[in-house]
Amino acid sequence: MKQHLTFLGLESSCDDTAAAVVRVGPDGAQILSSVVAGQTELHAPFGGVVPEIAARAHAEKLDLCVEEALTESGLALRDLDGIAVTAGPGLIGGVMSGVMCAKGLAAGSGLPLIGVNHLAGHALTPRLTDDLAFPYLMLLVSGGHCQFLIAHGPEEFSRLGGTIDDAPGEAFDKTAKLLGLPQPGGPVVEAEAAQGDPKAFAFPRPLLDRPGCDMSFSGLKTALLRARDAVVAEHGGLPRQVRRDLCASFQAAVRDTLAEKSRRALAQYLALNPAQPCFAVAGGVAANKAIRAALETVSSEMGVAFTAPPLRLCTDNAAMIAFAGIERFRTGAQDGMDLTARPRWPLDQSAPALLGSGKKGAKA
Ligand code: KG4
Ligand code: ZN
Repeated sequence: MKQHLTFLGLESSCDDTAAAVVRVGPDGAQILSSVVAGQTELHAPFGGVVPEIAARAHAEKLDLCVEEALTESGLALRDLDGIAVTAGPGLIGGVMSGVMCAKGLAAGSGLPLIGVNHLAGHALTPRLTDDLAFPYLMLLVSGGHCQFLIAHGPEEFSRLGGTIDDAPGEAFDKTAKLLGLPQPGGPVVEAEAAQGDPKAFAFPRPLLDRPGCDMSFSGLKTALLRARDAVVAEHGGLPRQVRRDLCASFQAAVRDTLAEKSRRALAQYLALNPAQPCFAVAGGVAANKAIRAALETVSSEMGVAFTAPPLRLCTDNAAMIAFAGIERFRTGAQDGMDLTARPRWPLDQSAPALLGSGKKGAKA
């Protein structure tokens, strides 16, 4: 196998259309370009991601993103070693747009085609950014997913636990919606929370009374709705400072829940006696500074190294897909023109299904 491998990656599983060029060599990984075209304004009038609108926008934008990513990298298709594409899990129309585009590029160029699990893209990001060695414990926390995974290899993950209903990112988005704030909710709720009192409202820390590291966030959303309605009934509206307090109290509940469940997942992981234990977080919610800080504190209390990707690699991007494609390709894997889009595609196929369904469909 060549010493250096350079892949184009495509991502279109939710509401970001992305293309990137990544090179991996003996000296580590290098992101040569990473283009992300968001669709926030297209979905804004509907208060959430509309799958049909997303699919059409991906189909329109993908080739432009590919062109931009190639130009930015200074490379042409003939300089590449392969095409990697998110083949699931995600919104089926968007995933299909990406897979069709990648198939066209692979057929036209003769390059190998590699289908990538979107969750593996997030879960392998610490290897892209920090060259982290296997195994490591990972909290993958995004708009559609929330799970603790031990990463053993590019396609080998064991799940220790996960959410049984909503994902935290989804809860942030719903909170924003309930409080009249724009989408995506995470960054806005975080900004509001910075000016609020996290103790103003006593929101539940769900499932802490039960053993294990499964989580639940849908009750939190209901608690927030009730608190908001009580405030509106009392004040005839939602005073600005109360909104900040609601955001801060909500974020503190998510933070505390993730921190305590991380403590339990880490204890389970440490019981396996890993040589150099490391805890990594990835996914859109990993961009939240309060949550990152809490997870870092738990790690240091438990004597475990902690790593979190830079913010632009926390949310959906194609650099993680190109990198995960290279990791798969190196194991000898390759897909053919029969590669299909998979709306559901759990990383740990042996783990029992978790309940619930998120904005990307059933939880993987
Ligand atoms: O990983 P991602 O880009 O897409 C999925 O695979 O879901 O994650 C997007 C999610 C959204 O729900 C967004 O509100 C949330 O991540 N998010 C945040 C923050 N930035 C993005 N949640 C909390 N705090 C943030 N700063
Ligand atoms: Zn994602």
